[in-house]
Amino acid sequence: MSKHFPFLQTIRARLALTLFVSFSLLAVFSSLIFMQASSEHQQEITQRMNADLAQHVVKEYLLFEKGEANLQAAKQTFEKLMVLGPNFEFYVLDASGKVLAYSTDPAKIKRQAVDTAVFSEFFQSKTINKPICGDDPRSTSGKKVFSVAPIYNDQQLSGYLYVILGSEIYDDIASMVKGSGIVQGALWSIFLGVTFSLLATLWFAGIITRPLRMLTSQVQAIRAEGFSSEGMKNEPAMNALCKWNDASSNEMHALGSSFKTLLEKLDEQYKNVITIDQLRKELLSHISHDLRTPLASLLGYLETWELNHKKVSAEESTGYIATAKLSAQKISKLVEQLFELAYLDSGNVQVNIEPFSIAELVQDTLQKFKILAAEKGLALEVEPKDSSIQVVGDIEKLERVLSNLIDNAIRHTGEGGRIVVRLSRSTRSVAVEVSDNGIGIPPEDLPHVFEPHFKAGNSVRGNTAHGGLGLAISKKLLDLHQASIQVKSRETEGTSFEFCLPAAGV
Ligand SMILES: Nc1ncnc2c1ncn2[C@@H]1O[C@H](COP(=O)(O)OP(=O)(O)OP(=O)(O)O)[C@@H](O)[C@H]1O
Ligand SMILES: [Mg+2]
Repeated sequence: MSKHFPFLQTIRARLALTLFVSFSLLAVFSSLIFMQASSEHQQEITQRMNADLAQHVVKEYLLFEKGEANLQAAKQTFEKLMVLGPNFEFYVLDASGKVLAYSTDPAKIKRQAVDTAVFSEFFQSKTINKPICGDDPRSTSGKKVFSVAPIYNDQQLSGYLYVILGSEIYDDIASMVKGSGIVQGALWSIFLGVTFSLLATLWFAGIITRPLRMLTSQVQAIRAEGFSSEGMKNEPAMNALCKWNDASSNEMHALGSSFKTLLEKLDEQYKNVITIDQLRKELLSHISHDLRTPLASLLGYLETWELNHKKVSAEESTGYIATAKLSAQKISKLVEQLFELAYLDSGNVQVNIEPFSIAELVQDTLQKFKILAAEKGLALEVEPKDSSIQVVGDIEKLERVLSNLIDNAIRHTGEGGRIVVRLSRSTRSVAVEVSDNGIGIPPEDLPHVFEPHFKAGNSVRGNTAHGGLGLAISKKLLDLHQASIQVKSRETEGTSFEFCLPAAGV
């Protein structure tokens, strides 16, 4: 509809039109009902006031003689009664309702008989509280209020005197409006009342739709500015949205505050997308950086072997292959760690929580590093050696955490150093601490060690590839256990990592 009537595009205009149409209909219907009621009331009053008129005339004037209607006498009587005014029309009817004599102009008579069925209703009603209408002989189908009285001759009903009352009672509404100042006044009052109500309602509609217009302009202001990585650009519009009260039962407030929440969510997601995009770029550059060295080494050794394997000794040839294999293993480890981190980030990780002896798990993990530690002259210890210390968690994942921490400790601790895994049991939890007396972490690097791809300035690479992913993976694995990990370190003195697990059987 608004296509054909562009001015109807706003809710306010539609509301105004709807109200205008309903109020106009209301005005028309109430006027019609008012006029109908006042016309009926007029008829009722006329009939009630003149109910005995016919009876009175019958008593006073002789209209029938010897069973026959005395038409001559009737005519004279009617002439006398004309002094009552033109509002009354007198008819002498026989018992069946046939018109025998009348006071009116013969040319105006359109009906020769009147239906007498309604007379009994008239005779029976003691007080007239609604108009009773009978046939009007001056029209073929019209009805009018009347007064009627039976005429008896020797106890025999010989006919009726039928009086049409108020022949000037307004026949139609138009003549009633024209003829009555009261009706006109009342109609004006209805019209003014309805117009005033319409204007008042339109004013209220404006007040009701004002918050909607406000919200629309705020949203348009935000839309015009858009989102940015620093947050919503249009701060005044955003602050204006804060005024919508979330707790209010007012629908507009609910809509405004929902919209604000939605915008905040969108803003957050927008920032997330930007961050993820940046991370993706960083990740790609890290991956290519981390893989470049072992890949170059792998290719280099393979090419050297290809060129020289016929010239060099079998021992040397095997040496090339072994070094190439080492590079391939580094690549494999890096790729595996990247996949692990991506898998942990995906949020679909299964955790198999079960009670187990943490002391035994520590012993088993240390066992794997025994040779490496011995080569470096390091002592690996667990305190206390009490296999009854039980925790609940995912064994496989916690084994990965311990391996990462012990691997780091071994790499960053010099000859003769000591790596201790300490278990401290409290009522509800068991604290696991992996400490070393190695090179430590510089204080400025300490807050970043759990970030993926971060390596401290004094990081030791050893002869294996290190992508700086171990601690990031360990942190995520512990997050799955709702456990947090803390680090303490002093440069040149040593480092300790600590996390808490829930004790079993609590
Ligand atoms: N026990 C430690 N002593 C000194 N520095 C450490 C210790 N543990 C971790 N770090 C520092 O934190 C950095 C990040 O450790 P993380 O385990 O995440 O990576 P990485 O060991 O370098 O590589 P990856 O674990 O992927 O093989 C290390 O590069 C190192 O600089
Ligand atoms: Mg590591």
